[in-house]
Amino acid sequence: MKIVLGVSGGIAAYKAAEIVRHFQERGVQVQVIMTAAAQEFVRPLTFAALSGEKVITGMFGSAAEQPNLDSAVEHISVALSMDCLLVAPATADTIAKFAQGIANDFLSTLYLAATAPVVVAPAMNVNMWQHPATQANLEILRGRGVRIVEPGRGYLACGMVGAGRLAEPEQIVAATLERLGVTQDLAGETVLITAGPTHEPIDPVRYLGNRSSGKMGYALAEAALRRGAKVILVSGPTALQPPSAAEIIFVETTQQMRTAVLDRWERASFIIMSAAVGDYHVKTVSPGKIKRRGALELQLEPNPDILADLGSLRHATGKPSPILIGFAAETENLLENAHAKLATKRVDAIVLNDVARAGIGFNSDRNEVSILTASDVIHVPEASKQEVAQKILEAALRLRQEHSATVLAPSSKVDL
Ligand code: PMT
Repeated sequence: MKIVLGVSGGIAAYKAAEIVRHFQERGVQVQVIMTAAAQEFVRPLTFAALSGEKVITGMFGSAAEQPNLDSAVEHISVALSMDCLLVAPATADTIAKFAQGIANDFLSTLYLAATAPVVVAPAMNVNMWQHPATQANLEILRGRGVRIVEPGRGYLACGMVGAGRLAEPEQIVAATLERLGVTQDLAGETVLITAGPTHEPIDPVRYLGNRSSGKMGYALAEAALRRGAKVILVSGPTALQPPSAAEIIFVETTQQMRTAVLDRWERASFIIMSAAVGDYHVKTVSPGKIKRRGALELQLEPNPDILADLGSLRHATGKPSPILIGFAAETENLLENAHAKLATKRVDAIVLNDVARAGIGFNSDRNEVSILTASDVIHVPEASKQEVAQKILEAALRLRQEHSATVLAPSSKVDL
């Protein structure tokens, strides 16, 4: 998800830095555009360092750059690539330009070229805010579907007291995400997610692995971050770029994944185990590279079942928290096998996927799943892993609501 943040000139311009940080915590990419006036208050370098992206400061690139065709049409490419244009702080001048369709700098030109939703967070002196011209311009923008994040009341930089103070950065971010249909229903929650394969070493150069790419687990992590959660991502080896806002623990073997999960599970309010965990490891790992000499026999030993261990541990606490969700990668007797995993691993839900079907499951961008709970089976038709991740999180939240009154009967003994 990419948000373009337009910063216009006002004392509150420095608060836009906090807005960038809040978006990043939710794994959202931010491209900053500064008006000439904004650059009088904050240097573009501040936003470049924070966002990790080039800051757009004018229609034709910076004064140091040679104007070229690319920079002359950049507003069109930015308009096409963004999911939302947020302007914070928005001055009376910027609001007036937007309302009247004046396009004489990058930001106002981008507004005209934008087809994505627009959110505007005004900040100005109280008299400017109350002026009929400003209010009329805001009414025009509202009429076009622009979301206005009302300024707060208080002590203003000009020394006056009244309405005109930029809304709190958290509030602006929440309003923007809400405009994009992303609710903050996981704010304050910690979600522990496992992703990717495990590698069980055979010798220093070889391992037993599986076809998991990590895409399903990483999609879950990104979706949870966007909904406001703190995310702990325990990841096996993948080629993916992990979401920078998550706490990431890279592991290789099942044993390492188990340790990473068991060290952290009590901090989580939701645990989703999408990793394809190796069921076996080689009994004796060769210290040197095994030479090719005819047939080779490897003795395999079973790995611990991390999900079942968590199910037992949670049961022992007698509390319904954290909500525990496992996956089932099946190739036959799909529902029957998934129901068996739901019961034996003592989890709240199992996300069943048919890993024999082409185009979904392992190493694909798409998936189709059934979410099994003790009372229900919810079918999620084939969709991108990002969309499937949202459905899994919705199911997790529903389970929490249902379970909030439930207390599990504590078991007397847990053998792990
Ligand atoms: O990574 P992708 O390429 O995007 O592919 C996604 C996926 C196909 C890997 C994913 O959708 C999926 O199905 N993950 C679960 C894979 C798996 O190990 O399934 P299982 O049926 O063998 O295991 C059942 C559950 O127990 C899983 O939640 C698994 O994480 C867990 N498990 C399994 C074995 C073990 N020793 N410990 C475990 O915790």
